[in-house]
Amino acid sequence: MNKDIKEVLLTEEVLMEKIKEMAAAISKEYEGRELILLGILKGSVMFMSDLMKHITIPCKMDFMAVSSYGYATESSGIVKIIKDLDFEIKGKDVLIVEDIIDSGVTLKYLMSYLGARSPRSLQIACLLNKPERRKEELDVKYCGFDVPDHFLVGYGLDYAEVYRNLPYIGILHERVYMK
Ligand code: IMP
Ligand code: MG
Repeated sequence: MNKDIKEVLLTEEVLMEKIKEMAAAISKEYEGRELILLGILKGSVMFMSDLMKHITIPCKMDFMAVSSYGYATESSGIVKIIKDLDFEIKGKDVLIVEDIIDSGVTLKYLMSYLGARSPRSLQIACLLNKPERRKEELDVKYCGFDVPDHFLVGYGLDYAEVYRNLPYIGILHERVYMK
């Protein structure tokens, strides 16, 4: 195990099992619709690719890049759009694919930003949810796991851009960010 990881919270096997379930539910719900999966860079990339592999209906993929953290472990509350959508989403069924919801500030902002472009539907699929930290009310259609309030890394999630390549979700050792 990586020496900076205090504890493995979700193994690769546990993640994959849940993601397959989520993909099955999405495939059923969006049957016959024009589904666009909208990944939020960079944290959602692994979840996006595994989720998409198990979706059995036609779907498209797009990405946005936003920033709300900088290099801290607390959200700044300010959401900056770094890369916007490529697709026109008017009349389409958009499913936002996000790694983790913490305060909810990022998604709250994105929901109103994207909602203004008149998609047919706009929903959220997130792998992880930290309910204790929520500041903004959100309606999350698909949620993988509720997780405790620790700083998590791996499977796409980073601390200062590192640890994204770990195949599991782990709790980052405090000594890494207390330095
Ligand atoms: P929110 O706006 O506070 O909900 O923050 C959401 C974003 O913060 C996520 O998309 C992640 O990129 C990042 N984030 C929140 N919690 C963690 C964590 O425990 N580890 C790594 N990134 C996190
Ligand atoms: Mg993110």
